[in-house]
Amino acid sequence: MTVNGEEVTRRIEGRLLLVHFLRDQLGLTGTHWGCDTSNCGACVVWLDDEPVKSCTVLAAMAGGHEVRTVEGLELDGELDPVQRGFMACHGLQCGFCTPGMLMTARALLDRNPSPTEQEIRRAVAGQICRCTGYASIVRSVQWAAAEQAGTRTTQGRP
Ligand code: FES
Ligand code: FES
Repeated sequence: MTVNGEEVTRRIEGRLLLVHFLRDQLGLTGTHWGCDTSNCGACVVWLDDEPVKSCTVLAAMAGGHEVRTVEGLELDGELDPVQRGFMACHGLQCGFCTPGMLMTARALLDRNPSPTEQEIRRAVAGQICRCTGYASIVRSVQWAAAEQAGTRTTQGRP
């Protein structure tokens, strides 16, 4: 498979989950392993540009496909607007849910550059944050949307 643009080849057990392959075999620990039951969304990565819960995907199923993790979000040393948005608007507290939130937010903005609050909330509906209460996550995504559109006018707020 290709992971963050680099081709990787490993001999693995058929039962190995993608989340464990990324973390334990490739050392990409930005992808978090939370519930292991497809509920929390901390493990979200992209499989061929589609956000998936990597605890529900066998690593072998990703063979021949493109995987992108949170480590692959920054480009040429510059953080992605969603990463900067989460920093600017305090879209995290403990940070456990954040990698998955970032990957979902990026996918949302790629498809819909100016989502409504309801659309943002729907996009992250499959992900659980125990800390923030979601308001600051929504603001962070709005910040990133405004930043990309060049319409952000005030510090930290869209
Ligand atoms: S660890 Fe995958 S959804 Fe929770
Ligand atoms: S910031 Fe702690 S779970 Fe979301």
